[in-house]
Amino acid sequence: MTRALSADIAVPSQCYLAEGPVWDPSRHLLRWVDINPGHVHALDPATGAHTRFAPAGADGPAVPRADAVPVGAAGLTGDGGLVLALVDHFALGPGEPGADGGYRLAHIAGFRVDASQVRFNDGKPSPWGDFWAGTMPWREGGPSCSLYRLGTNAQVTELLGDVGLSNGLDWSDDRRSFYYADSTSGGVDVFACDPETGALGERRRFVTVEAGIPDGLALDAEGCLWLAVFGTGEVRRYTPSGELDTVIRLPVEQPTSVAFGGDDLATLYITTAREDLTPAQVAAQPHSGDIFACVPGSTGRPPNRFKARPAWKR
Ligand code: BGC
Ligand code: CA
Repeated sequence: MTRALSADIAVPSQCYLAEGPVWDPSRHLLRWVDINPGHVHALDPATGAHTRFAPAGADGPAVPRADAVPVGAAGLTGDGGLVLALVDHFALGPGEPGADGGYRLAHIAGFRVDASQVRFNDGKPSPWGDFWAGTMPWREGGPSCSLYRLGTNAQVTELLGDVGLSNGLDWSDDRRSFYYADSTSGGVDVFACDPETGALGERRRFVTVEAGIPDGLALDAEGCLWLAVFGTGEVRRYTPSGELDTVIRLPVEQPTSVAFGGDDLATLYITTAREDLTPAQVAAQPHSGDIFACVPGSTGRPPNRFKARPAWKR
């Protein structure tokens, strides 16, 4: 029997495209990005304080436009900072803006994708201490995209080509399986993974979703996969054998991603979007773009961190 759960509003953040949630255990904060305006948000669940800053120094427009300064994903680094997938390249920055409100980015040179065609989307630090993030086309029918790896030595390599829309990703505890959602493929695939190096091997279908778009995902401590199914209002849990065992139903159609947080990693935080909704749809689902929370009885795992080598760090 599939369990049915609901979720409460954790932050009425009203984001355009909230994505990439991650629990920051050192600061006791839930962090996420609002991709298009280029914001990094934080919630302190102990006090309810909700803050945000713009790594590019200025707010971009909420909707996709030539002057957008999107932040596709932000991961934690080993020294308390952030690793960022900006529109077309990677950068490192501190954990929060300085006392003057400024945010000092260290841009990683030598690698850019074509920002007129594609932008960075979901990404996470891997168990090997590097950062994996992929791209998506700005417009339907755009070029094929890729999944990239930013190494701890600042070198960028392509892990996977022929991607339609790079989205959710996570690794099993034994580092032998890599779960990956190419949203245009209609499901989640699992790759065999070399536990020493992270090199990808054989690929197979893990689950296909019959409706909606597979988006962000996270494994829990039992190795089950939680998947945000964009367009259906559902977050689903699948067992390692691919069986659907829990559905969280939200009052909004567009959940985008999930992460366990709280000091006990027992709260599942769910990011959502109002991207492309008409004013009538926003009126019917006014909590689109808010962050939801559910305590589903499973717990998460501490996040991986990007471990830049000191030689080029800052
Ligand atoms: C992208 C959105 C897209 C959604 C569903 C997200 O990761 O950032 O732009 O609409 O996935 O495909
Ligand atoms: Ca996503």
